[in-house]
Amino acid sequence: MAYYRSAGTIPPKRHTQHRDAESGRLYFEELMGEEGFSSDSSLLYHRHLPSAMVDSRVWQLPEDKPEPNHPLKPYHFRLHELFPGESWRQADPVRDRRTVLGNADVRIGYVAAGLPSPLYRNGTGDECVYVESGSGVLESVFGSIEVGQGDYVIVPRATTHRWLPTGDAPLRLYAVEANSHITPARRYLSKYGQLLEHAPYCERDLRGPVGPLLAEDLGGDADGDVDGDVDVYVKHRVGGAIGGTVLTVPTHPFDVVGWDGCLYPYAFSISDYEPITGRVHQPPPAHQVFEGNGFVICNFVPRKVDYHPLSIPVPYYHSNVDSDEVMFYCGGDYEARRGSGIGQGSVSLHPGGHTHGPQPGAYERSIGAEFFDELAVMVDTFRPLDLAEGGRAVDDGRYAWSWSGRGPGGEG
Ligand SMILES: [Fe+2]
Repeated sequence: MAYYRSAGTIPPKRHTQHRDAESGRLYFEELMGEEGFSSDSSLLYHRHLPSAMVDSRVWQLPEDKPEPNHPLKPYHFRLHELFPGESWRQADPVRDRRTVLGNADVRIGYVAAGLPSPLYRNGTGDECVYVESGSGVLESVFGSIEVGQGDYVIVPRATTHRWLPTGDAPLRLYAVEANSHITPARRYLSKYGQLLEHAPYCERDLRGPVGPLLAEDLGGDADGDVDGDVDVYVKHRVGGAIGGTVLTVPTHPFDVVGWDGCLYPYAFSISDYEPITGRVHQPPPAHQVFEGNGFVICNFVPRKVDYHPLSIPVPYYHSNVDSDEVMFYCGGDYEARRGSGIGQGSVSLHPGGHTHGPQPGAYERSIGAEFFDELAVMVDTFRPLDLAEGGRAVDDGRYAWSWSGRGPGGEG
């Protein structure tokens, strides 16, 4: 994210001495940079050695053997059923994520959480975490960001952070974990990285960390020390797959007195996305928000719909030949899907190789509509998605037959 920010104290010149004003002790500078330090980066000033550790042990990630979508079918997953009743009160936003779909570029997970997560960093890629509902705080080495319903939260690869749910409702998170970086669509950016005038959002809409966050804010002493060793959960590559390690460090990682640069977590509310509308139906690229390697993220927000006198506001039937489309229905009524059983918290998978479109009746019914009160987040992947454990657990079992009204057993 090529947009400069600064927080806390930093020396006037980079790579020069920065000392505690009272004790004279040197701070330790860390350059956190992307693409071999040839892309965005930030400089952070630590009170303790950021490389110190005292133990490393396996973090056993939940067992998952993703299954290919074979024989090919569209799917409907009801994500709220992954956390029935009050089970969210015992779940944390990181370790209890259930993976719904995934491929070699991206994994999509979901959690309804009531407990704080441990300290965590994802060493495989950036995360884009969409807050379906609830409220919380993302704390990181850069500071804290308060988040709530409708926020996208971009957490750069290898950022040490934790999630703190607040309030007495589950913090429902839809987590898109990339194996790459996640950025605004390239065509929204000037050659130097400013969001252009035609982009559906701009820098003013992005909320950066307030901070820096220091360990003394967490109950440590005046020197920023929190008693005892601290565990940091790290997701990383293990033999070509995703694995986990718990690193134990001797001082709390939230010891940064200041930082500056263009690499940091940020939040963006979907309610600040300005939809592009037209006389006739606008294709999905008009609704794009972010992109990563092998996928894009789009959203469909409440908006005035097509105003040509003969327009058909719901989508035409379409064959997205190079993509699997994953829609997460997170608010309002989704007109095109009415009659399919899809509701709040649902995910549909429309795989490449299958033509899809509105459910029966929706096409004609949409004529004359002036406004759609719908909210959905879409991930389009350029490689087929496998069905992960969380998706298979809440498959409605009949979505594929919703356009014809009958399946192989004759059921609708
Ligand atoms: Fe579609």
